[in-house]
Amino acid sequence: MRVTARAHPNIALVKYWGKRDSELNLPAVGSISITLGDLWTDMRLDTDAGADALTVNGEQRDDLMPRIARCLDVVLGEDRKPVSIVSESNFPVAAGLASSASAFAAAVVAAAAVSGREHGKDELANLAGRASGSAARSLYDGFVELENAGDRVAVRSIRDTDSWPLSVVVAITSVAPKSVGSGEAMEISRRTSPFYARWVDEQEDDLARARDAIAERDFMKLADTAEHNCLKMHSVMWSSRPPMVYWNAATLDCMRVVRELRAGGVSVFFTIDAGPQVKAVCMPEEVDRVREALGKVEGVENIMTSGLGAGAHLIE
Ligand code: DP6
Repeated sequence: MRVTARAHPNIALVKYWGKRDSELNLPAVGSISITLGDLWTDMRLDTDAGADALTVNGEQRDDLMPRIARCLDVVLGEDRKPVSIVSESNFPVAAGLASSASAFAAAVVAAAAVSGREHGKDELANLAGRASGSAARSLYDGFVELENAGDRVAVRSIRDTDSWPLSVVVAITSVAPKSVGSGEAMEISRRTSPFYARWVDEQEDDLARARDAIAERDFMKLADTAEHNCLKMHSVMWSSRPPMVYWNAATLDCMRVVRELRAGGVSVFFTIDAGPQVKAVCMPEEVDRVREALGKVEGVENIMTSGLGAGAHLIE
């Protein structure tokens, strides 16, 4: 049997950083994200295989197989048949661009299709979240909120893609793989950052403000909340032992440019994950100005643009 699922990466505006249960991979805090429509990962699963095998963008990647295999075991059972997986993305993997979110969301949707059993979307989100917390959000379209709900997560779309069609301009400042993966890094933060407890305590306030801003389509309120939440997460990373600094000089320059644009009346704000790329969220009519300004920053290697998009789904 052969199926292909497509999932889009998502970018958190109120971030997930920290786990309350590392065994079940349950996040310590809720989060709010936007699902991107123009970036994608397609994952083809073929159960007619002699052994597990994984190809990512044309390269055999045995190193990434164990994590995907564990994810498939959770959906299909440990006595599952071997599968061959072919994954293709139209953006660089492992560079702080949420490639794991789209990969695991697509893997879970494809695995569920070959399982022969009906899965609800809530179940798929929880299965994806076991593999990678942020992947649970890529099951849903538009603006997505993830809440803790006892021993599972509750994920839902809080606004669709069309009623507030924001755009994201991603400034790629380095495609080198990150030094510490986010799962390991957030555990280091939980154990060592003096700011971690405060970060967790304040998250509800940031979520409430972002939820209101999205409901009211209040761009400046969302901008203020998302930048504050992002900088707070990075303060937790910086104050961890060892410290985790994912930025480079171009990251900082892009942040300054985004703030200058906003001071000049352009509706744009930045957010940055566990990597050096700057994601500038803006109104669609501002995309050209934002692209042009970020394109002039020394050290920006490439720029990608995306609108909002759909949750993970089967394509064949
Ligand atoms: C900074 O979802 O990659 O992007 O659950 O350990 O796989 P694991 O972590 P992951 O962490 C994402 C962290 C973030 C913020 C976010 O997307 O909310």
